[in-house]
Amino acid sequence: MKKIIIGIWVFSISHFSIAQRTLTVLADKPVTAVSPQMWGIFFEDINFGADGGLYAELVKNRSFEFPLPMMAWKEIKQQANGKILIINRSKENTAKPRYAHISVDAPTGVYGLSNEGFRGMGIHKNQLYNFSIRLKKLSGDLRMKIVLENSSGKQIGNAILQNFTDQWKKYTVSLTPSDTAVKGHLNILFEGKGTIDVDMVSLFPANTWKNRPNGLRSDLVQLLADLKPGFIRFPGGCIVEGRDLDNRYQWKNTVDSIEKRKLIMNRWNVEFPKKSAPDYYQTFGLGFFEYFQLAEDVGAEALPILNCGMACQYNSGEVVSMNELDPYIKDALDLIEFANGDNATKWGKLRAGMGHAAPFNLKFIGIGNEQWDEQYIDRYKAFEKVIKKKYPKIKLIAAAGPSPDGPRFAYAWKELRKLNADLLDEHYYQSPEWFLKNANRYDNYDRSGPKVFAGEYAAHGKEDPQAESKNTWISALAEAAFMTGLERNADVVQMTSYAPLFAHVDAWQWRPDLIWFDNMRSVGTPNYYVQKLFSNNKGTHVVPILQNGKILAGSDSMYASAVIDKSVGEVVIKLVNVSSAPVTYQIDLQGVESAKNSGTREVLSAKDRYAFNSLEQQQNIYPEKTVINLKDNKIALTLQPISLSVIKVAYKK
Ligand code: AHR
Repeated sequence: MKKIIIGIWVFSISHFSIAQRTLTVLADKPVTAVSPQMWGIFFEDINFGADGGLYAELVKNRSFEFPLPMMAWKEIKQQANGKILIINRSKENTAKPRYAHISVDAPTGVYGLSNEGFRGMGIHKNQLYNFSIRLKKLSGDLRMKIVLENSSGKQIGNAILQNFTDQWKKYTVSLTPSDTAVKGHLNILFEGKGTIDVDMVSLFPANTWKNRPNGLRSDLVQLLADLKPGFIRFPGGCIVEGRDLDNRYQWKNTVDSIEKRKLIMNRWNVEFPKKSAPDYYQTFGLGFFEYFQLAEDVGAEALPILNCGMACQYNSGEVVSMNELDPYIKDALDLIEFANGDNATKWGKLRAGMGHAAPFNLKFIGIGNEQWDEQYIDRYKAFEKVIKKKYPKIKLIAAAGPSPDGPRFAYAWKELRKLNADLLDEHYYQSPEWFLKNANRYDNYDRSGPKVFAGEYAAHGKEDPQAESKNTWISALAEAAFMTGLERNADVVQMTSYAPLFAHVDAWQWRPDLIWFDNMRSVGTPNYYVQKLFSNNKGTHVVPILQNGKILAGSDSMYASAVIDKSVGEVVIKLVNVSSAPVTYQIDLQGVESAKNSGTREVLSAKDRYAFNSLEQQQNIYPEKTVINLKDNKIALTLQPISLSVIKVAYKK
C-alpha cells in the first residue's frame, strides 16, 4: 500500500493509476427502511436568514420598535421643515407600542423619511411592489409621495397616497420600478402642512412564494423545495434558547396578526463582537404559522424546537426554576393544539382564523436545543411526562449537547437511554477529516435505544475573505462521505440536517452555510448539491453494497451506500471518491434484473478541492447528469478524482 499525502489529508490507495475493483449490490436484501424524514432542513434566523432574507419585507424597523427607534431611518428635508417624535402607547398596544408623530411644514418642498432596507433594498425592474402604511392625520392637508431610489439617488419608481382620515387606517399602493437597484432605498415624503401619525411602513415584492401577500422570497423557498426535504426544523438553533430567558423564542409571540407580534433582539446581534449586527432584530413576520405553512408547501414534516426553560449555556445559562416550569410545558401543549386542534379549541381556532382550517398534523417536537447536564435532563423529564400523557404519538427530540462526544454527550445518552427517549439530537461542526474518519460512526451504534437525529452538522475547513469561500468542495465531499454512513445506518439515524441554512453575503455571522444570498440573488453551495443529491435519491430501503464482502467506509479513499426505491423500482448507489486519482469499478447488481440496458449517473466534482460556488459563479460545482450502460446487470464506471457519483438503475418489479 502506498500513502499519498495531499494537502493535510492522507489517502491510502493501492494504485496510482486506474485500478478496477468490484462492488456488489445486494438489491434484493433490504437491511432496513429509510425514514421518509431522513434528509431535512435546519432553519434558523441567523445571518439575516429570516428578517432581511426569507421574509421578503424590504423595510427594516418598519414600526420603529428597535431600541433606537430611528435606526435604519433618515430624515429628508427638501426646501421644507419638519419634526419627528416617537410616541410610545404601551398600554394601548403592548406588542407594537411605538409610532412616529410627524409635523410637516412643506408648502413647496417635501419633508419625510428614508429607509435603508436590509443592507439596501433589492429592487427588480418591471416587477410589482406593494407598499402599505398605517396612518392617522391629526391636522392640515398632506399628500404623501412614495419614492424608490437606487444607490445613487436616481428615482426608479413612485406613487402617491392622499385623502387621509383622522382614524388609524391602513393605506396601500403598488409601484412598478423602471429600473433595477441592487442597494436601493424607499422614501416617504410629505407635501403640504400638517401633522400625521405613521406606523407599520412596509414594502413587499408581489412576487413572493405562491404570490402570498407579505410572504417569503420565492427564489429562496424554491431552493428549499428543490431539496424535497423530509422535515423542516425551526426556528433554530441557539435562537430558541436566547442569551437569557427573556431573550428566548416564544412561539405565541409569533402568531396572529402582524400587529400582535412583539419584536425582540436577535441573539446573533451581539453574539460575535467581530461580526456584530446592531440592526439585527426578530420582527416575527415569519412566525410559527408561516413555518408550518412552509413545511406543508414543500412537502416536509414540521419540526418545531421549543425552549425547555433553559437559556443558551454558552451565554447566561440561566434556567427557570423547576417549580416555574409549567408555563413552558404549557407552551408545548398549546403548540400541539395550535398545529393539530380543531376549531373548537382555543389554539386550533386561531390557526383556522389565520387561514388554515385543516390541521398541520404535527408529529415531532424538539425539547430544547443544544442543552447539557442534569439541569436539562430534569427539565426534559418534566416535559416528557406531560406531553406523552396527553399526546402519546408525538415524537420528542431530546438534546445530546453541543458536541459529538465527550462527557456531556455520554451523560446525555446514558440518561436519555434510561428514559427511552424517541430521538437524540447530535451536533457536529467538525473538520472535513473528522467527517471522513467518522463515516463509520454509526456502524456499531447501540440499536436498542433512542434513534439519532443528526440535527446540525457541517464540515468546517479553510476559508478566504469572500463570504461564500468556506463552503469548499472538499468540505461538501467529506460530508457526502459521512452521509453514506448515515444512509447505511438508516435504522438508527432517522433524521439529519445540515446547519445553518441561509446566509446574507453582507450580513452573516456564521459560516459555512447551505445557501448564500444577497438582496437580488441566491446560490446553492457545493454542500447544498450534496444534500440535494442524497435527499432527491433517498429510496425506500437500504441495501448492502460491498467490496470483497465488506462495506466501503474509507478504505482506498472510497465511501459507498446504496438504496432501492420499491415504489418506483430503482436501485440508487452513492459513491464518493476522496482521492486525487480516478478509480474504476465494476458494479455488480445482484438479486434484481435491470429493466433497461442503461441507467443514469449524476456527478458532482471539481478539479480544485477548495473551489466554491459564489453569487457570481453559481455552477462551479454543479451536478452533471449522463447516461450509463449496463451489460448483464453490470456497470463499468470510472469515478473521477474527488467526486460524488449517484447512479440510478431501474429494475424489473
Ligand atoms: O447553527 C448555528 C448554531 O450552532 C446553532 O444556533 C446552535 O444550535 C449551534 O451551536
